Amino acid sequence: MGNCLVEEILKLKKERNAIILAHYYQPKEIQEIADAVGDSYYLSEVARDSKEEVVVLCGVKFMAESAKILSPQKTVLMPTKEAGCAMADMINEDGILELKEKYPNAYTVCYINSSANVKAHCDVAVTSSSALDILKNVQSEQIIFLPDKNLGGYIAEFFPEKEFILWEGYCKYHNNIKEEEILNIKEKYIDAEVLVHPECTKPIRDLGDYIGSTTGIINYATKSDKKDFIIATEEGVLHELKKKNPDKNFHIPGGTISCIDMKKTTLELLYDTLLNMKNEIIVDEEISKKALGCLENMHALAK
Ligand code: 13P
Ligand code: SF4
Repeated sequence: MGNCLVEEILKLKKERNAIILAHYYQPKEIQEIADAVGDSYYLSEVARDSKEEVVVLCGVKFMAESAKILSPQKTVLMPTKEAGCAMADMINEDGILELKEKYPNAYTVCYINSSANVKAHCDVAVTSSSALDILKNVQSEQIIFLPDKNLGGYIAEFFPEKEFILWEGYCKYHNNIKEEEILNIKEKYIDAEVLVHPECTKPIRDLGDYIGSTTGIINYATKSDKKDFIIATEEGVLHELKKKNPDKNFHIPGGTISCIDMKKTTLELLYDTLLNMKNEIIVDEEISKKALGCLENMHALAK
């Protein structure tokens, strides 16, 4: 049944002139069937540049929304609209407007993990792989950064001369990783390198040999000559890590870190979506126009 479903999806994909994009946190069978797999920044570029009329975004809602804002002429679908991001939901339009009223001269930076409504009020969006490069190109001395206090705190460390106003949002999966969970693995594998996503808290980042996005973590482990790695991020990255590094060992702090929303995508839902062209992402035209500037600035300033 599995193989048959895969063949049906591939057939429908051609008929619909669609491209399937998947984030590294997606279930492995979804990563395997996708035309492109990557971190949030890479997916936003592929969605924008792809020639196909239809983009099926296997990830969470803010990723599909970003794809639609960047390519309003394309049909953007998700296998399930139930896949949100709890961190993105920690700030709404009122939140950003309140901050802007309090700090009228601040430059507003939103993590791409935010809604279109929020992006519409921000100067630039960033991803974990592009935030540092983007902030190097921002002259303002006062920066509002939202919604992730951990990524914001990490970036702020590089710019001590600037004032960062951080929203108190966080990813519950990354924020929950405990130092003991890493140190326990380290005790057993003393040479293990610790690779950390910047959505983690400062004590965890301080244990890191490397801090970076999902792509950054995969590239670092692939280049390293070490054998064991402690991977402080969502376990979906293990699929690509193991594929690229069959002789290396990867350990997840606490044994498992699984984002419930990222795991809502199934082959059956993907098939159904392509068959019935369902779960189309629609972004209000006015909001989309305003949010586009924020995403275009992300691509421009990341260079
Ligand atoms: P990256 O893949 O950009 O590192 O993002 C991680 C994430 O949390 C996506 O929700
Ligand atoms: Fe959102 Fe965290 Fe899931 Fe990423 S891992 S989609 S930040 S809840």
